[in-house]
This record gives sequence, C-alpha cells and structure tokens, in this order.
Amino acid sequence: MREENLSLRAKYNITAMFYDVLDYPWERIYRQWRPFILGDLRGKVLEAGVGTGRNFQHYHDSVELTGVDLSDVMLRKAAKKAKKANCKIELLHDDASVMNLVESNQYDWIISTFLCCVMPDEFQPMTLKQFSRVLKPGGKFRLLEMIYSKNRKIRRRQDFFTPFVEKVYGARFDRKTVQYIEESDELEITSKRFLKDDVYLFIEGIKKG
Ligand SMILES: C[S@@+](CC[C@H](N)C(=O)[O-])C[C@H]1O[C@@H](n2cnc3c(N)ncnc32)[C@H](O)[C@@H]1O
Repeated sequence: MREENLSLRAKYNITAMFYDVLDYPWERIYRQWRPFILGDLRGKVLEAGVGTGRNFQHYHDSVELTGVDLSDVMLRKAAKKAKKANCKIELLHDDASVMNLVESNQYDWIISTFLCCVMPDEFQPMTLKQFSRVLKPGGKFRLLEMIYSKNRKIRRRQDFFTPFVEKVYGARFDRKTVQYIEESDELEITSKRFLKDDVYLFIEGIKKG
C-alpha cells in the first residue's frame, strides 16, 4: 500500500461505519444502474474499490469475482454482503494502484464504481496500468464516475456539496480519469455516456492489442 494512501484508508475506515446509511439517498439512484452495469458480465471479474459490496448482488452466479479495497473496515462490511451474493467472491486488502496481490493477465473484466473520483489524480495512471496488467488480452472494463456539470444550476449544487464529499469520501468532481485513459498506451475507451445529467459518467473500454 502506498504511504500517500494511508490517510484515504484512515478516512474510509471511519466512513465505513456509517457509509451505507449516509450514502442511502444517492444509493436509491445508483441501485437502478447497477444491474445493467454488471448483469451481463461473465467470467473472471476484478472489482476495484468494492467498498461495502453494493455491487455483489448484481453479478451473475457464474462470475468469479475478486474484490479489492484499500480499507479493511469497508472490506469487513463487504464480506457480510459477499455471503449473500450468488457468485464466488474473493476479497483482497490491496491498493488498486499497486495490486501486488493480483496476478497478471487473469481477468475478463475490470469494474469500478466511484473509485476514480475518490482517487488522487497522481495515482490514476498507475491504477490504469494495473488494470491493463491484470486484464487478459482483449479484456474489458467499465467505470462509473462523477464529474462536474456544465449546467450552472447543477454546478451550484455540486459546489455546495464539494466540501462534504471531499471530507467524508475523499471524492472530487474534477478528476481527469477520461484524460488518463485516453493517454494510456494499453487501454482504449469504446463508449462514454451519462447516466444522469452530465454528471454520472459511464465509461466502457477494452485492453488494446
Ligand atoms: C466511494 S466508495 C465506492 C464503493 C463502491 N464501489 C460503491 O459503488 O458503492 C470508494 C471505495 O474505493 C476504495 N478505494 C479508494 N482508493 C483505493 C485504492 N487506491 N485502492 C483500492 N480501493 C480504494 C475506498 O476504500 C472505498 O471503499
């Protein structure tokens, strides 16, 4: 684990205790999207930043899932949800920008929902390198992230929430995830679309070559 990530881990080890309750108003929206983001995946899937395991119930029962998270307390919550999931789940306490517990060329899919918006920009290119290392040739990825809106009314609301989301989740709306994927030699975006307003960005892509 990178030393620079210890404070983010400490933040999530506290946030974990009330994460599902605190995030409930937003989760009521997100849970409508999770089935179509995850339901058609098959094979070996690596989910980076599993959090409390909210995606688990939406994976097909044939999926072999590896879940990675920085926070051991989030992982403890995830372990409880893993028991109720239909698919096989292995949880690893690891940093997605390092992934030293994960072997190369193993996975058909990489999934992350709301990981990159909490990840400091300087670690994102390293994380994308790890994604491409652990994906099989031709493996695919799906990411769901939040970004700043161009709509002034929505932007005002985001500005209001910015100090809260940064303090509690370490999240920011100005991460440059799309730019880093476009600059990557190994990954390629195949589609990008918003799931709500111009804020919730769903990115799909593939490992090149
Ligand atoms: C906003 S939560 C999202 C949780 C979950 N994916 C969801 O959709 O509800 C972000 C999660 O990413 C984890 N995380 C942040 N940085 C990470 C890193 N470098 N490696 C692995 N997990 C990380 C946090 O501990 C937290 O559990």
